[in-house]
Amino acid sequence: MTPLILGIFQYIGPNGTVGAAWQHPEDESANFTTLSHWTRLAKRFDEAGLDFLFLADSYGFPALDGRLLDASVREGRGIPHGDPMPLVSALAAVTENLGFILTTSTTVEPPAANARRFATLDHFTEGRIGWNIVTGSSGATAAALMGKELIAHDERYDMADDYVDVSLTLWEGSWEDDALVLDKQAGVYADPEKVHLVHHEGPYFRTDGILNLPPSPQRTPLLVQAGASGRGREFAGRNAEAVFVGGGEPATVAANVAGIRAAAVAAGRPADSIKVLVGALFITAPTSEEAWAKHAEMLAMSSPEGAAAIYAGNTGIDLLALDPDRPIEQTTTEMGQSNLERYLGKDGKPAPLVRDILENFRRTGINGSVFVGDPGEVADQIEQFVAETGVDGYLIQPHLTPGTYDDLIELLLPVLRERGLAAPAPAPSAPGTTLREKLFPEGTAHLPATHRGHAFRA
Ligand SMILES: Cc1cc2nc3c(=O)[nH]c(=O)nc-3n(C[C@H](O)[C@H](O)[C@H](O)COP(=O)(O)O)c2cc1C
Repeated sequence: MTPLILGIFQYIGPNGTVGAAWQHPEDESANFTTLSHWTRLAKRFDEAGLDFLFLADSYGFPALDGRLLDASVREGRGIPHGDPMPLVSALAAVTENLGFILTTSTTVEPPAANARRFATLDHFTEGRIGWNIVTGSSGATAAALMGKELIAHDERYDMADDYVDVSLTLWEGSWEDDALVLDKQAGVYADPEKVHLVHHEGPYFRTDGILNLPPSPQRTPLLVQAGASGRGREFAGRNAEAVFVGGGEPATVAANVAGIRAAAVAAGRPADSIKVLVGALFITAPTSEEAWAKHAEMLAMSSPEGAAAIYAGNTGIDLLALDPDRPIEQTTTEMGQSNLERYLGKDGKPAPLVRDILENFRRTGINGSVFVGDPGEVADQIEQFVAETGVDGYLIQPHLTPGTYDDLIELLLPVLRERGLAAPAPAPSAPGTTLREKLFPEGTAHLPATHRGHAFRA
């Protein structure tokens, strides 16, 4: 089997995606406001040979009808949540190979500002940066915070397509590859013939200008996407090189993966030009009993109120206000659709009841898959899930920080490596490659010719 792509999922906050583990005596995630907390983690991931650290983000927060949800504040879930962007340079400085994928939303900052920041980070990380392009979970509160109205779901994706066009125009079109001269004797920094003003006029965004930086190692950061709605998948087919999907029932994930690959083909790209990575928790310990005890401990810190707050922030639906003995009646939302579609009943199966949805969300969070057992048992589950779904790798979420990572690196990774499911550990002084080449070793640091962004080259 090809080695799996393994990334870590983190919020800049005190919790993972299930429960409120900061209160555990051994958990250190309440230190998320200190830089040393992050540099220590990043070094550990880098030395272990993991592929990347993903820093999720949203300006939104759990609130409904103009009121904060108490459980969210009390348990530290969704509130607080820091900005990943300022963190990355510090993490790049203490790591050699680890990639960094950051979320920014296409509904918040103007595209040229976002493009410049990512280009700067592509330089500072030496090509180890990726952009998770989202139209924004918790869209209603994010819009209100920015003094805007919530834009309808599908229109947000139309805007996102245009936003990516602006970004590609700037990254790919402003500087030719050999525009930077750096001739000290002649006093020529760059060749004026090879730096171009670019122009884009789309349905939502306009730009006239340049990306004011010489070409960075990847030019365009690795393009990632994370919304599984129908319109989200279409967007992924056109733009994404990697897609983050939620876990859950293997048949549902397999259908999602097939849908993403079909969307790539519909956009004129090879089916395997997108790596699909599934969100999951791996809870392991030397013995199965100990692993299940950790799982029970995690669930004891995961309240229905906290789970309902996260669900409401994401979808706009308050599960606690609905009849627990009926399915959700609402079938669409203008906020994030993935977490509503997940519970509407599929493949001829009836839609689950609200009480079961809440319990499932409390146990699995936004990402849906939890594998528990000794390292051999978890490796079996990982392998079987890949065989059943066709995913290319995992986005691993913490229960305890750093405990989950100690278990991953010390117990699970050696077993995955033995089975060829994970790439061998990097040599201590292995030269860094770009994030794009890490995910596509057969390709180059730049967007491949099959990606529409390639045509934006000067
Ligand atoms: C593993 C994973 C990571 C995600 N990370 C983010 C994130 O950082 N920020 C965000 O706004 N949405 C994130 N999402 C997506 C939201 O859950 C939500 O689905 C999306 O923003 C709305 O798009 P949709 O309507 O196409 O589902 C993530 C989803 C998954 C499965």
